[in-house]
Amino acid sequence: MEKRIRELQEKSGVLETTREEQAQINKAGNKFSENFYLSLSSQKAYKKHDPETIKEILNETLSEEGVGIDEILNFVESKVLPQGLNPASGNHFGYIPGGGLFSSAVGDYIAAVTNRYAGVFFASPGAVAMENRLIKWMSDMIGYPKGAGGYLASGGSMANLTAVHAAREEAGLKASDISNAVVYMSDQTHHCVDRALKICGLSECQKRHIPLDEKFRMKANELEKTIKKDKANGLIPWLIVASVGTTDMGAIDPLEEIGNIAHRQGIWYHVDAAYGGFFLLIREGKEKLKGISTADSVVLDPHKGLFLPYGSGALVVKNVDHLIKAHHFEANYMQDTTAERTLYSPADVSPELSKHFRALRLWFPLKLHGISAFRSALQEKLLLTRYAWNKLQQLEDIEVSPEPELTTFTFRWKPTLKSQNFDQINRKLHYSILEEGEIFLSTTQIKGKFWFRLTVLSVRTHLEEIDRFMTALHRNMEKVESEI
Ligand SMILES: Cc1ncc(COP(=O)(O)O)c(C=O)c1O
Repeated sequence: MEKRIRELQEKSGVLETTREEQAQINKAGNKFSENFYLSLSSQKAYKKHDPETIKEILNETLSEEGVGIDEILNFVESKVLPQGLNPASGNHFGYIPGGGLFSSAVGDYIAAVTNRYAGVFFASPGAVAMENRLIKWMSDMIGYPKGAGGYLASGGSMANLTAVHAAREEAGLKASDISNAVVYMSDQTHHCVDRALKICGLSECQKRHIPLDEKFRMKANELEKTIKKDKANGLIPWLIVASVGTTDMGAIDPLEEIGNIAHRQGIWYHVDAAYGGFFLLIREGKEKLKGISTADSVVLDPHKGLFLPYGSGALVVKNVDHLIKAHHFEANYMQDTTAERTLYSPADVSPELSKHFRALRLWFPLKLHGISAFRSALQEKLLLTRYAWNKLQQLEDIEVSPEPELTTFTFRWKPTLKSQNFDQINRKLHYSILEEGEIFLSTTQIKGKFWFRLTVLSVRTHLEEIDRFMTALHRNMEKVESEI
């Protein structure tokens, strides 16, 4: 048996790279990222996928023997990356961009190399302390008192799901209560909240979409009226979800008023600030987000407002005990970990156990660049958005949504052409922009009509990129006009 074991050890030895091999892989990886950044400004922001290439990826052989690093990187560069959206591009104005900081990628790399078991304090007290420190930083930013806590999630959807689960546990909802339980949100609430409700087995809850004002913000007085009516009818109001930066319009719900209502009515108050939460870092954002500390739970996404690569969300809860109550479990094989619990662990407050050392990808850029650089970047994005909004407003045949509160607004083209089907014309314009791929814009439906969305949040979007967006828009409008 020993002989066989030795043979297997030798054969699998390639998994443990030598120092020379590591140096070679590192060199190739570094060269790849250098070239990627060097060519970024000339890379397309969008390219439609090529069905043949997708087939090639799907059929790619995973061979018994390994191949060289250059072959692998070449495959990624030529087949995988050039299709679809390029979220690293500063010309990405769709959905919610972030860009992806190089410093964060290096933090992530070191997290993977050291492979700390970040879910449990006993296993990696340093990683857990670092994660808790980052949560405390966010908690202070929100204005929460001592006793708040949370965890770093993979993104806003997971963080919202965790909050919904905690709220449900706190409300003590039984299966028999579900059809009478009521959630209050708006039709602008991100769909991940609906999905969270579904995953938590709460799709049969009653959902109230509270009417919105002219700036697409929830009308607080309507909210309270609806809650009172529901209570009078014997229903169980248990969750209010407000947004800081709705995905369509970047609208901010009246946080303080909603908080006061939630407290008066004894309902869990959750704020989805996945998009807009980090604007708390600047004075203007702080003013706009006044009252956020009245929430029981808040979601923020570092892969949006702090420009991290995808894979970073955060949930902060005013009373961490609520999260612990909803998630903590014990098991025989975990007994060593419970003996030493100086701090709460991510595994106590979230669905994850084995956990990537996620804190490092955030810690790295915050420490390396300093917070002030992030404040300047966020302020810059706010001004760039106003700059773009002003420019579009000056165009006669462009209809623009109200002045943006954050860095998102919508617009649509209303030219005087033979065809007056504006939805169709705007779809054509979108298709033309996508075909060209120099900039990327996503679209939405507002009150049943087709609108473009413009969101400025990539770390690489500056004045040049906004001017590039304007030029690309004009160029494509002219092209569509000439074809109609
Ligand atoms: C307001 C809001 N909430 C939640 C999410 C979901 O976050 P994620 O995509 O990180 O899961 C998004 C995503 O864009 C969002 O804009």
